[in-house]
Amino acid sequence: MQYNLLANYTNDKEFKALVRKKLSNIKSYNAFCFAVLNILIRKLDIKTCYLNKKCFDESLLSFKTDGHSSLTEDKTVTENCAFLLKNKTTNLIFSFGHQGAENLQNLSNHIYSLDNNTFKNIHIVLFKSSEELDKARQVNKATVYKRSFFTTCYDICEKIIETNKVDVKKIPSKKRNSTLLSDKRRDLAGLHMVEIMDNIPVGKEDSKLYKLIFKTKEPLDIMPGQFVMISTLKEKNRFKSKTIQSISKVKPDIHNDLQTKQISYLKRPFGIYRTYYENFSDDYGSKLNIEKELAAILYTVKPNRFEIVYKVLDRGVGTNELTRLVKGDKVEMLAPLGKVFDVRKFVKEEWDEIHIVGGGVGIAPLIYLVQVLRFYNIKVKAFIGIEDYKSLIYKAGRTKSHENTRRNARIYIDDLKYFGLSESSDIYVSFLCDTDAVQFKGIKNVFKGSLVTEPYSEYLRKHNHLKINTFTCGPFAMMQKVHTVTAQFNIKTYVLMEKRMACGIGVCFSCVCKTIENGENHNSRVCMEGPIIESKQINWNE
Ligand SMILES: Cc1cc2nc3c(=O)[nH]c(=O)nc-3n(C[C@H](O)[C@H](O)[C@H](O)COP(=O)(O)OP(=O)(O)OC[C@H]3O[C@@H](n4cnc5c(N)ncnc54)[C@H](O)[C@@H]3O)c2cc1C
Ligand code: FES
Repeated sequence: MQYNLLANYTNDKEFKALVRKKLSNIKSYNAFCFAVLNILIRKLDIKTCYLNKKCFDESLLSFKTDGHSSLTEDKTVTENCAFLLKNKTTNLIFSFGHQGAENLQNLSNHIYSLDNNTFKNIHIVLFKSSEELDKARQVNKATVYKRSFFTTCYDICEKIIETNKVDVKKIPSKKRNSTLLSDKRRDLAGLHMVEIMDNIPVGKEDSKLYKLIFKTKEPLDIMPGQFVMISTLKEKNRFKSKTIQSISKVKPDIHNDLQTKQISYLKRPFGIYRTYYENFSDDYGSKLNIEKELAAILYTVKPNRFEIVYKVLDRGVGTNELTRLVKGDKVEMLAPLGKVFDVRKFVKEEWDEIHIVGGGVGIAPLIYLVQVLRFYNIKVKAFIGIEDYKSLIYKAGRTKSHENTRRNARIYIDDLKYFGLSESSDIYVSFLCDTDAVQFKGIKNVFKGSLVTEPYSEYLRKHNHLKINTFTCGPFAMMQKVHTVTAQFNIKTYVLMEKRMACGIGVCFSCVCKTIENGENHNSRVCMEGPIIESKQINWNE
C-alpha cells in the first residue's frame, strides 16, 4: 500500500507522523490502522471503550479509553475483538481480517445473537486489501462473517485524503491502489440465471401491477439507477456464453417481437425495487444508525435476493409473459446495466434533504435509491403519486414459521418505513381518485385528487432555505413538470429516464433520448449514458 505516497498528499501532520513509523510487524500495522481510524472519527461523537492489548504494538498506542460500553464485561467480545468503539446508540466492535476465521466466526455469531436484530451492536472487520474484502462480501461467507460490515485501511486513508480536500488526481495513477477507484468494485455486466421466488399481484383485482421476487446464484453488486434486462419466458437459454462481448455480437432485432406479437425474443429492462442481504432483517434501514463519515467506508455482504415491481402493459408482450412466472421458474437476466451513479461520492456533499418524486410504477426504482441513501443516514422525503390507496395493497410473502400465511402489506409505503422514513412526516402521497381518506390512517400528508407535483411545489415553496437534491421517475410529463418546479428553486435534479430498449448494452441505439451538452444537441443512449441523467441535460422539447 502506498501510505507514504498518500502522506505526501495530505496536510494532516498526525497522518504523516504515523506513516513515518515503521509498520514492521502485524501488531504495529494494527496500531497504525487503529490510529488512522481515529483521525477519521475524531470529530464524531464516538468513544473508545476497549482495546485488546494482544492485538497491538504497545509502544505505538497509549491504550487510553474514554467511554464505557455494556460489552466491556463480555469475554467473548473482549477476547476476540481488536477494539470496541461506541457512538450514541451503537457498539462498534472491530476485528482484523487476519485474526483467523474461527475467531471471527465466533465473534460475529456471538454479536449477531446478542444483538437480536436491534442493530445496536455491529461487527466491523478490517481487511488488509480490497481483494480480501471482496471475498468476504460473497454470500457463501455469510456464515463466517454473520451480518458483519467490512472495510480496509486503504478505504479509511482514502476518506482522510478526501476530508483533507486532497486532489486525488495528483497521485500518479499507476501507483494508485484499485480501491481508490470505486468503480473497480462494481460487478461487470454478465448473464445470470435467476430463480423466481414469488410473483405477487399488487392492488385491486383488475390491477396491472406485480411484484417479482427472485434470487441469483451469484451475488450482484447493483447500484441505484442501474437496471436489469430479464427474459420474460422461463428457461430461455438463447445465449450460452457468459461474457458481454459475445452477447454484443448477437444482432438485436427490435421489431422481431412486435411482428410475432406472441412471444418476446428480447429481454425487457426493469429497475431494481429493493435488495436483500443475508442475515439482515427487512427493516434494518430503520435501525441502523452509523455516522455518514463512518458508513462511507463500510461495505456489507453483497445482495442475492432482489425485487422488481412491474406494470403489465395493455399490449405488452413481455410484461404479460412475466405474469405467468411462478415460484421455482428460472429465467435469464443480464445485469447490472446502465451507468453507475456513485452514491458514496454523492453523499459526501452536505444535503439537508434528498427528495424522491415518483409517479405510478416509476416510484419503484426510487425505492432502491432510498434504501441505499438511508445506509448513509441521509434524510429523505418521498413524494409519490398513485391512483388510489387500494392500488398499493398486496399479500406479502410467507413467513418462515407459517409457510402458507400471507399478510396484507403496501408496496412503496412499507418499504420506505422499513428504511426509516416516518409515515407522518417524510412521506407525501397524492392520489388521483377521491377515495376514502380513512384508509390512509398513519400517513399524514395525503392529497386527494391531486398530481404529485402540486404538493411538491408547495413543499419547496415552504422549505426554500434547505439544500435539496431531487430524483424523479415516472411519466415523461410528470418528470418534465418536476424539472420545471425544481429549476425555479435552483435544485439539482436527476431523472431516471425510461426508453424502449432492445440490447441494453449500447449497440442498437433504440433507446436514445435527446440531450443538450454545452449548448449542443446530442442523442444519448439511456442504457449507456443513463438511466440517471441530470434534468437540465435533457432536451424536454423534443
Ligand atoms: C431503465 C428502465 C427501467 C425500467 N423499469 C421499470 C420498472 O421498474 N417497472 C416497470 O413496470 N417498467 C419498467 N420499465 C419499462 C419496461 O421495460 C417496459 O414496460 C417493458 O419493457 C414493456 O415490455 P412489454 O413486452 O410488455 O411491452 P412491448 O410489447 O415491448 O410494448 C408494448 C407497448 O409499450 C411501449 N413501450 C414498451 N417499453 C416502453 C418504455 N420503456 N417506454 C415507453 N413505452 C414503452 C411500446 O412502444 C409498445 O407500444 C423500465 C424501462 C427502462 C428502460
Ligand atoms: S438499448 Fe441498445 S443502445 Fe440502448
